Amino acid sequence: KDLKPIKDVYADYFMIGNAVSYSEFEGLRYDLLKMHHNLVTAENAMKPGYAYNDNREFDFSAQDGLVKAARDSGLDVHGHVLVWHQQSPEWLYQNADGTPLSREAAIENMNNHIEATILNFGDDIISWDVVNEAIVVNGSNYENWRQHLRQSGWLRAIGDDYVELAFRKAKEVVNKHNLDIKLYYNDYNDHFENKSSIMYYMIKEINEKYAKENDGELLIDGVGMQAHYHLHERNTAERVEQSLKRFIELGVEVGVTELDITAGADGVLTEAEEKAQAYLYAQLFKIYKEHAEHISRVTFWGLNDATSWRADRNPLVFDRNLQAKEAYYAIIDPE
Ligand code: XIL
Repeated sequence: KDLKPIKDVYADYFMIGNAVSYSEFEGLRYDLLKMHHNLVTAENAMKPGYAYNDNREFDFSAQDGLVKAARDSGLDVHGHVLVWHQQSPEWLYQNADGTPLSREAAIENMNNHIEATILNFGDDIISWDVVNEAIVVNGSNYENWRQHLRQSGWLRAIGDDYVELAFRKAKEVVNKHNLDIKLYYNDYNDHFENKSSIMYYMIKEINEKYAKENDGELLIDGVGMQAHYHLHERNTAERVEQSLKRFIELGVEVGVTELDITAGADGVLTEAEEKAQAYLYAQLFKIYKEHAEHISRVTFWGLNDATSWRADRNPLVFDRNLQAKEAYYAIIDPE
């Protein structure tokens, strides 16, 4: 009860976020959410798969409830996500038999989705993940980022400029309606040099091209490091710092968007594992603090171990009973 709020400890550095569902907005979970955070991401509710009714018409009612609850609680909201290969209706980009829609038809669906979604929430959202997880490492030659684009339904229908087109549409909507919304590219394995290099080259090329046409304006404003890490991987902190520096070179803001660190197994965490996990959390927050000027937020992917998407591997800073773990104490005093 007399824990220091994480958001207060980091007030001078960056926002502290968490991934939520609507059911989080009551009881003890709500207390914990409000006490430690000033930002939320919908863990699932704002994905394209939840934006339509059975007649393929937009229906944002569930999402509106969540966003209103957050705003009424004084929490900012990060939008997740507009264009993704998962949790999206397949008819957006392919026919019933699985063949891709025509490029024109898929672009139209993508643009409609982007425009309607951004406008539905307007200024209640501070930033959107416009494209999520477009890259999978495919060999070396990282500069040639197109070679590493995921063979997703969007790619098959539209082609390898779909990422750029999605951001251009989002930027057009934001500018036309004078919205103050940052546009993010978000991806995982951000701590590996191969993945972060490909992300770097893709964002660099897309942004340089747009800047030339638009008086130096950024198209992609931010890069999201999902930050789904594992205790058993070596050198995570060093790798994270390398990637972070690379992204900062791009002149974009960096968001840590889905932080968690798996440790232990089957819902069990030994004392040694809990200490080691806390140490890695501390190392990360030290790095984040050092580069805080470029980091907009650090968002945890869930409130506590019991309800995490990786609940079996105890990845968060509050335990199954919503009690602070070693990781919490490490974060509030990472030195
Ligand atoms: C996950 C949610 O946490 C799960 O509840 C859901 O079943 C699948 O999606 N990268 C992302 C997130 O961008 O949207 C994913 O969230 C985790 C990986």
